Amino acid sequence: PRVLVLNGPNLGRLGVREPEIYGHASMADLEIAGAKWGAELGLEVEVRQTDGESEIVGWLHEAVDAGAHVVLNPAAFTHYSYALRDAAAQVTTADLLLVEVHLSNPATRESFRHYSVVAGVATGTVAGFGFDSYRLALSAIARKLEA
Ligand code: DQA
Repeated sequence: PRVLVLNGPNLGRLGVREPEIYGHASMADLEIAGAKWGAELGLEVEVRQTDGESEIVGWLHEAVDAGAHVVLNPAAFTHYSYALRDAAAQVTTADLLLVEVHLSNPATRESFRHYSVVAGVATGTVAGFGFDSYRLALSAIARKLEA
């Protein structure tokens, strides 16, 4: 099974950006880790990042058309992008899995981060475990596909 790991705005700055919140590892490190976890779990994992709303919406359409499952860190789009929510809804209504992930735990941070417009159309959410949030999301997908 194929899994697209899609990352929204500013996540290309991982390692440089607020390391006390997001850690010291980079998006390039996540690409390597994602491929390794995928190999362990029997998933074909591809990690991507964009700062553009239209690009990430297009990738969600691509996931639907390709029958790929999705791990999605929508970054700040989490909190306000109805376009992203509507695109994410197409994934789960196509019976594909979509796991929302966050490096930090948004519930412990500023109040504008407490609401996710994506959560209501996700299969589930993993937040607060740094890079491990992605590993947990991938393993949840692998287990659900086995079941
Ligand atoms: C984030 C949390 C969001 O609130 C924030 O805008 C991000 C990253 C996270 O992974 O913790 O850019 O999605």
